[in-house]
Amino acid sequence: MEIKDKVALVTGGGSGIGAATSLRLAKEGASVVVADVNEDGGRDTVTQIESNGGKAAFVRADVTGPKDAEAMIAFAKETFGGLDILHNNAGILDGPDRYPDADPAQWLPVLEVNLRGVILGTQYGIQAMRERGGGCIVNMASMAGLGFGYPPNPVYAASKGGVVLFTASLAPLKDSDNIRVNCICPGVVNTPMARGGIPALAEQSEEAAKLIESLNMIPPEEIADIVVQFITDDSLAGQAMMARNGRERQLAATAAAPKEWRGS
Ligand SMILES: NC(=O)c1ccc[n+]([C@@H]2O[C@H](COP(=O)([O-])OP(=O)(O)OC[C@H]3O[C@@H](n4cnc5c(N)ncnc54)[C@H](O)[C@@H]3O)[C@@H](O)[C@H]2O)c1
Repeated sequence: MEIKDKVALVTGGGSGIGAATSLRLAKEGASVVVADVNEDGGRDTVTQIESNGGKAAFVRADVTGPKDAEAMIAFAKETFGGLDILHNNAGILDGPDRYPDADPAQWLPVLEVNLRGVILGTQYGIQAMRERGGGCIVNMASMAGLGFGYPPNPVYAASKGGVVLFTASLAPLKDSDNIRVNCICPGVVNTPMARGGIPALAEQSEEAAKLIESLNMIPPEEIADIVVQFITDDSLAGQAMMARNGRERQLAATAAAPKEWRGS
């Protein structure tokens, strides 16, 4: 699908990967709806797009609520006339205390934002795309959600693994509705989420600064480039693209389900 003159919505567009993807899609000629709970960050992304001559609008939306998820898609339709591209990117990490020792109140939001938010956004996105005769959805998973798991954070891994298999299960929409759903599984991306306390740490010693450098974090623009790849390559559906720290990309094999289970 070409990106020029399409309407795109990016959740979590006020920071990190979502901001980079919003800017890139606008540069490619899409009108971009930036959805976020972070109003300052979201409006800042819109300002950056507009100052580069692009078209964008901000909507405050919490992806975990069906009302907000439906309203952000309605906003795209009212503002730019429809929806062709959806990047379900909003996500969170939980605090330093982890499952099974942390209180459920600390880890439940991870499932709510990272998995429920993606499923809700996709549902309303599909409904809007059907009205346009097709579209493309790119969900945000993580390397933590692939088959080897992520022992430091089992709940985050569960949320992202859920996104990978949810996405794979929607592959048949390509043939039934001309809607392609794919997801991205990055390693460590250089964003506020990953940096967390790292800048403060880097200032503490030369050794710490070197260690951070050695993480070889992926620039968020590289992830935006994978979003563009998924939109423009009409053959891809139900796929998970792994992006390693070394920036190499690879389609990750999802379970080899029997053909009759795959529905195509
Ligand atoms: N940074 C990494 O290393 C990395 C690696 C793999 C996957 N990811 C995933 O990439 C996505 C983007 O992460 P990032 O690193 O850019 O993080 P970030 O913290 O820089 O940005 C996340 C954005 O999501 C928004 N958000 C959070 N909860 C929300 C909600 N309920 N409704 C709407 N918006 C909400 C935040 O306000 C923020 O603007 C996440 O899904 C994350 O899990 C990140």
